[in-house]
Formats: sequence, C-alpha cells, structure tokens
Amino acid sequence: MRRIIIGVTGASGTIYAIDLLQKLAQIPEVETHLVLSQWAKQNLALETGFTLKQVQALADVAYNINDQGAAIASGSFLNDGMIIVPASMKTVAGIASGYGENLISRAADVALKEQRKLVIVPHETPLSVIHLENLTKLARLGVQIIPPIPAFYDHPQTIQALVNHQTMKLLDALAIPNHAAPRWQGDGVTK
Ligand SMILES: Cc1cc2nc3c(=O)[nH]c(=O)nc-3n(C[C@H](O)[C@H](O)[C@H](O)COP(=O)(O)O)c2cc1C
Repeated sequence: MRRIIIGVTGASGTIYAIDLLQKLAQIPEVETHLVLSQWAKQNLALETGFTLKQVQALADVAYNINDQGAAIASGSFLNDGMIIVPASMKTVAGIASGYGENLISRAADVALKEQRKLVIVPHETPLSVIHLENLTKLARLGVQIIPPIPAFYDHPQTIQALVNHQTMKLLDALAIPNHAAPRWQGDGVTK
C-alpha cells in the first residue's frame, strides 16, 4: 500500500486535482489523504461542476484545513509523498518560509523536514521575482516543481487531454505506473 497526501489550494486549476484523485482512486494499492484550503473550495465551485462531497469521496481520508492535529500534520505519519495541486503563490510562500499556518503548509513543512517526496504544481502567471525565488528555494531543497504546462506534440483536442498530460507527469513523479496520456515515442527519424 502506498500513501499519498494531496493538498489543493485556491489557485486556478482545481480540475487537475480532481483528475489526479480520479485516477488514483482506480489504483487499489494507493491510499489518498486529501485536504482542501478554504479558497480551493471556492474555486472548486467557481471552476467545476463538482461538489466538495464528490471530491472528498474520491479520497480514502479527507481532512479539515484547520485541523493541525490531523495525522498528516505529524512526521510520524509515514507516507510516500505529498502533492500540492494546484499550488497558490501564497501557499508556496508559506512553505518556502516554513510558515505552517494551515494543514497543507504544515504537512508540506513535515515533508521537507522528514526529507520525503514533495511535488508542487504552481499556478500563476506572470510570475514575480518573489514567486520565482520561493520556487527556486524549494527546488533547491529537492521539491519537484511541475507547473501545469500543456504539451502539443500529441495534438490534444480536448481540455481533458491537456489535463491527462499533467496527471501523467504527477503520477510519473510519484513513480506510479500509468497510461494517463500518450507518451512521446520519438520523431521516427533514423540514421
Ligand atoms: C478565481 C480565483 C483564481 C485564483 N487563481 C490564483 C492562481 O492561479 N494563483 C495564485 O497564486 N492565486 C490565485 N488566487 C488567489 C488565491 O486563492 C489566494 O491567494 C488565496 O489566499 C490562496 O490561499 P490558499 O493557498 O490557502 O488556498 C485565485 C483566487 C480566485 C478567487
């Protein structure tokens, strides 16, 4: 059994979190632990047709963002990694400065101190020097930064195809075998 923590914050792109949860829910060997910030809940309603209950039902365990006593707030809770998707610049700043003001930034702080896998999917544009410096600091600490940048070499025709590509990147980062999206097979040019 592999345990994955998923934090969802109030940046645009809640659909990426939902798609990841849907795909992980199909893998019996993966146990998901989910927490949404207040603004993630707002964006869920603004950007998608999903209810909070429907999203929470995709996870094995769901936590309240203010519950600093939750299992995932402790380093003694063993897990195989945490993904924050999408990650707001506010949450990125909190993690980069060690300010665990809610359960997402606290769980990320724990991942850093325990030197566990941490993946961040930052969503903002344009990026200020503050954003870039915070992300650089985290990358230097071993955090994997995987912004939602679509690939066009497989000629995506739908939003779902673009989202699938991002989910493939996230599952790959967690070393979870998947066929979420077509992979580049080479350009066919041979000697
Ligand atoms: C519709 C909407 C879209 C937003 N998109 C972004 C975004 O893409 N990136 C970002 O950093 N903040 C974005 N924000 C602002 C964050 O929600 C805000 O900074 C919030 O305090 C983040 O808190 P959280 O990280 O605890 O969720 C957005 C807000 C709204 C209402």
